[in-house]
Amino acid sequence: MKRVVLPIMLLTSASLLNATTNKEIKQEAKSAIMKMGGTLKSHMKQNMKAGGPVQAAGFCLQEASEIAKKVNSNYPKGVSVKRISLKYRNPANKPTADEAQVLKAIQTNVNAHKTVPKMIVKKLAKNSYKVYKPIFMNKGVCLTCHGDATVRNPEAYKLIQAKYPHDKAIGYKKGDFRGAFVVTILK
Ligand code: HEC
Repeated sequence: MKRVVLPIMLLTSASLLNATTNKEIKQEAKSAIMKMGGTLKSHMKQNMKAGGPVQAAGFCLQEASEIAKKVNSNYPKGVSVKRISLKYRNPANKPTADEAQVLKAIQTNVNAHKTVPKMIVKKLAKNSYKVYKPIFMNKGVCLTCHGDATVRNPEAYKLIQAKYPHDKAIGYKKGDFRGAFVVTILK
């Protein structure tokens, strides 16, 4: 499995650095995000199916950041993918000042019922970009661990709170804006 996945990821990364037009950058960032998001999603699904919310929460707490590291280690220096949120659970997912501005702008659009672009490209310098893909709470299952006390799974949330006593990532409703994937390209 690894032997097949690795070369594909390296190929994607290399073309990411060569992308020059906005369209190319978006396309390449999208495929990088799909790798990260797809891996997290499939593991989460497997664990939810095998052991319910408690096992799935255990997976997120122990492995989500490891998976993120593993995916990132396959990109060349200067390229990274992460998840950020204004209401973050893991302090490692706290946005930087410029990222927080983008998230706030998206939230303002959402509040005003305006369409939010699927991808947002911010140029930092020549050949340096941050590409944002907004994340929404589109699935009811997200609320198992991110909803308010009436919808959360109490056992799963006990585990989460033990690791993250200052968790901000709760109180969400279905469809809420949650945060974003960010692909950073620094050349
Ligand atoms: C079984 C529990 C569980 C479910 C279900 C769940 N999450 Fe999470 N989520 C977590 C945990 C735990 C973390 C912190 C992971 C870590 O330690 O990095 C997290 C982190 C995140 C983050 C990173 C930002 C932050 O707050 O640290 C995003 C974005 C996110 N979740 C979105 C979602 C979405 C969207 C869904 C539904 C598709 C979902 N989650 C379903 C438990 C869950």
